[in-house]
Amino acid sequence: MGKESIMKILGNFLVIICVVRRTEGDEAMSFLIICGRNSSAMVDGRWWNGDTAPGNNNFTLSSPGIAASTATFDGDSIYAPLYKTARIFAETSNYTLIGTQANGSYFLRLHFYPFFVGNYLVNESSFDVVADGHSLVSQFNPVIEISRRNSNSSMLVKEFFLTINSNVIVVEFSPSKDSFVFVNAIELVPVLHTLFVDSVTKVGGNAPITSLNKCGIETMYRLNVGGPVVKGGQDSGLWRSWEMDSKYMITANAGAAMQNRSAMDYSSANASLFAPLLVYETARSMSNAEVLDRRFNMSWKFEVDPGFNYLIRLHFCELEYEKPNQRVFNIYINNRTAADNFDIVARAGGKNKPHHQDFFDPVSARVNTLWIQLGPDTEAGAAITDALLNGLEIFKLSHNGNLASVSGKSSLNQKDSRSKSSIILMASMASVSILAVASVAFYCVFKLRERKRKDLKKSASVAILDVNANEKRSAGKNQIRKCSISASRHGKAFTLSEIRAATNDFDESLVIGVGGFGKVYKGEIEGGTLTAIKRANPQSEQGLREFETEIEMLSKLRHRHLVAMIGFCDEKNEMILVYEYMANGTLRSHLFGSTLPPLSWENRLEICIGAARGLHYLHTGTERGIIHRDVKSTNILLDENFVAKMSDFGLSKTGPAFDHTHVSTAVKGSFGYLDPEYFRRQQLTEKSDVYSFGVVLFEVVCARAVINPTLSKGQINLAEWALRWQSQRSLETIIDPHLKGKCCSDSLQMFGNIAEKCLADEGKTRPTMGEILWHLEYVQQLQEDWVRANEEFDRENLPSGRTSRSLGESGSREGKEPSSSDEESLCIDPEMKAVKETAVKVSEK
Ligand SMILES: *[C@@H]1O[C@H](CO)[C@@H](O)[C@H](O)[C@H]1NC(C)=O
Ligand SMILES: *[C@@H]1O[C@H](CO)[C@@H](O)[C@H](O)[C@H]1NC(C)=O
Ligand SMILES: *[C@@H]1O[C@H](CO)[C@@H](O)[C@H](O)[C@H]1NC(C)=O
Ligand SMILES: *[C@@H]1O[C@H](CO)[C@@H](O)[C@H](O)[C@H]1NC(C)=O
Ligand SMILES: *[C@@H]1O[C@H](CO)[C@@H](O)[C@H](O)[C@H]1NC(C)=O
Ligand SMILES: *[C@@H]1O[C@H](CO)[C@@H](O)[C@H](O)[C@H]1NC(C)=O
Ligand SMILES: *[C@@H]1O[C@H](CO)[C@@H](O)[C@H](O)[C@H]1NC(C)=O
Ligand SMILES: *[C@@H]1O[C@H](CO)[C@@H](O)[C@H](O)[C@H]1NC(C)=O
Ligand SMILES: *[C@@H]1O[C@H](CO)[C@@H](O)[C@H](O)[C@H]1NC(C)=O
Ligand SMILES: *[C@@H]1O[C@H](CO)[C@@H](O)[C@H](O)[C@H]1NC(C)=O
Repeated sequence: MGKESIMKILGNFLVIICVVRRTEGDEAMSFLIICGRNSSAMVDGRWWNGDTAPGNNNFTLSSPGIAASTATFDGDSIYAPLYKTARIFAETSNYTLIGTQANGSYFLRLHFYPFFVGNYLVNESSFDVVADGHSLVSQFNPVIEISRRNSNSSMLVKEFFLTINSNVIVVEFSPSKDSFVFVNAIELVPVLHTLFVDSVTKVGGNAPITSLNKCGIETMYRLNVGGPVVKGGQDSGLWRSWEMDSKYMITANAGAAMQNRSAMDYSSANASLFAPLLVYETARSMSNAEVLDRRFNMSWKFEVDPGFNYLIRLHFCELEYEKPNQRVFNIYINNRTAADNFDIVARAGGKNKPHHQDFFDPVSARVNTLWIQLGPDTEAGAAITDALLNGLEIFKLSHNGNLASVSGKSSLNQKDSRSKSSIILMASMASVSILAVASVAFYCVFKLRERKRKDLKKSASVAILDVNANEKRSAGKNQIRKCSISASRHGKAFTLSEIRAATNDFDESLVIGVGGFGKVYKGEIEGGTLTAIKRANPQSEQGLREFETEIEMLSKLRHRHLVAMIGFCDEKNEMILVYEYMANGTLRSHLFGSTLPPLSWENRLEICIGAARGLHYLHTGTERGIIHRDVKSTNILLDENFVAKMSDFGLSKTGPAFDHTHVSTAVKGSFGYLDPEYFRRQQLTEKSDVYSFGVVLFEVVCARAVINPTLSKGQINLAEWALRWQSQRSLETIIDPHLKGKCCSDSLQMFGNIAEKCLADEGKTRPTMGEILWHLEYVQQLQEDWVRANEEFDRENLPSGRTSRSLGESGSREGKEPSSSDEESLCIDPEMKAVKETAVKVSEK
């Protein structure tokens, strides 16, 4: 472990050296532009400029177009703030980026998150983009492009590699006839060393390749094989995004994911340019059963645009064997042998040494799928070994300066792809309520230059809340929120008599919860919609103003994983909030202390991911970020489909009086979840939520109370107890017995690692909710792969291979406690009492 952390530090050191060199030796800088926005924003650890932010001298915009924005963003990316605005151009317009390096190489990324804006139906947009003489896209429609990708994501990043001729680069957008341009963000990142060199292995034949550096290049696919998504700042200053590979495999999940983080090293400092160590640390190799099969290849299949040449870059790093000749295999591209007797150790010069190899297949220009297969050499008759791959990239090479395929147009006219794209669009509309804004300030800036703007009227008409968008929501999606109610941004103002009718005059039998705020009733409003109605305790000190702030703030938060506020009532000194009703109650009630059936591991992962999404949105989805302050399993609610939603969010932000009740409630109810650093430094940050979320993760996997005073001393506090087991890598000993044999040990191990990281002593070393989210998604993927592999093995009645290693029924579960534990009766232990007193002090401060 010591070794590992030293290597981690060394790894960081290497990256730092590179970064320093980059900034010292060269003046190249990044251009980060958010379209349709008038201010700068820190998005992914970098400052992004709004395209109409004042005081910027690095780029100009040739015509104002129309600034559009959407009220909420339901994606899960750290890039969320980029996608809430866009710029629409109805005429040819350009961004001119000033101060690029002549002969310098750059990644140019165009970001798209399509949303409807008034009369501009983004599904009908169509445009060309030209940059530095390269035609990048033609008759491009982001909606169609997204629907073509085999992905559920409603966002799209097009990435190009360009070597720029002069000190400016003009990115020109031209709408097709009667159509318009839609773009969310533009990113230009310098690449200092040579990313593409001429030594390329050509598959069958001698097609000459002209200097790749002079080509325009588009990234088609970039995969971290056998590992999680890697993106943003994890990739040595280039901000590339590495997807997971499993969905591209021809035989789903053939091959076993593997990883080894130790002693990884680059052969030279600028080798880190090609891929981050995170990519080399994970791989996919063949399982034992697959090796024995002898007729098996690990195979991936990719859709590509016909008519172009492609460069295939494979990343290797041997993680298991020390010596050459221990793993030897063939590489096939489009059914032809691209390399035989491929020996990673021999080529890379040892174990744990990153190595990449480029391939060029002239045949790829004539087909629309690209097959890449790795497998044993069947001819040789020699010992059969398996294959290994760590990463894979596919680049499209420009043809006479052209990277744009014109298939966009024909598919626009095809009925079936149209309906396909509208499905995606409906899905994204279902979760996004749309607000179109014409930026008045924007016009002030450009009025002087462009006096004769004819379409001022046109854009003014866009500045209307697109209420209809709510009605366009897809009925097929599981949307519980009632459209008619959420149409108004502030929710519905209920009369007291409506509330009285809904709750049967505050009938005690309808009380479903009691909190510091007051009581929560189950109520039925308007034609039978079930709601949770929260009525402030008349003794509550919270004043009318704070109550209004509260409504204002909650109404801004809209996310699939946050409990939605439907409305409020502030009549006759009553302060009442009406929320959507969550049929399955709290997460905690499904974990322990009730007779409800236990949740499966898959369900638990889905719930954790949902809650993490909600928290990630709270932390990053608003201008200032919101700290929940009371993350716990009773504040994670489940709807009728077991979709997790955070509740009670942001309450503590609204004022000291309310803070008081809330924090003291938190102390009573949330022992065991509280961030120790918060006590030490008395400063609350998002990382306090991360700590609490880590405790929830342990609670989910161990299914016991976070504090159980009836247990022996070392077991009272779940966080301490589980951390102890986790640090010995034996978490499986204490997991919920219902999970034994039903979860894959890799997924469990990784889950434990995430929880452990969340509970790090210092907030700054804890991961962000975004990072947690990616890792949880990877855990989910591991589990799904394992389940599928098990099903296949069961079906074929074969002995389990490497992929189906399961947790044995062994492992005694230490100290399983009696199932119920009353939160009110927790403060027995003197140690805890001390903690409580500190906490109360903090809250009164
Ligand atoms: C813009 O240019 C200025 C110098 O003119 C520089 O200091 C600044 O970092 C640049 N900003 C961006 C986003 O490139
Ligand atoms: C960019 O737009 C400006 C203003 O319309 C125009 O003068 C210039 O020629 C354009 N540049 C290119 C490369 O189209
Ligand atoms: C860019 O490269 C070309 C040839 O590769 C050279 O002629 C030209 O001078 C270079 N320009 C600059 C500004 O370095
Ligand atoms: C775009 O979406 C709108 C609204 O859903 C629909 O009426 C229209 O037919 C769509 N257009 C295309 C080309 O799919
Ligand atoms: C998309 O989502 C559906 C349902 O959530 C799921 O079944 C499918 O596997 C997902 N597809 C991809 C490519 O992630
Ligand atoms: C690595 O960096 C050195 C010095 O900066 C440079 O000479 C060399 O060409 C670089 N190698 C590659 C592959 O970029
Ligand atoms: C990982 O690599 C280290 C160093 O080469 C080695 O000692 C260890 O056994 C490897 N672990 C696995 C699981 O292969
Ligand atoms: C792997 O794929 C190649 C190309 O399709 C094929 O020629 C070869 O026989 C396959 N190998 C095995 C072991 O199936
Ligand atoms: C490779 O061979 C398989 C059948 O063996 C075929 O289905 C596939 O289309 C071929 N791929 C290419 C790119 O030719
Ligand atoms: C920026 O835009 C927002 C709305 O998008 C507007 O409220 C604000 O006044 C604008 N600020 C400036 C300085 O133009």
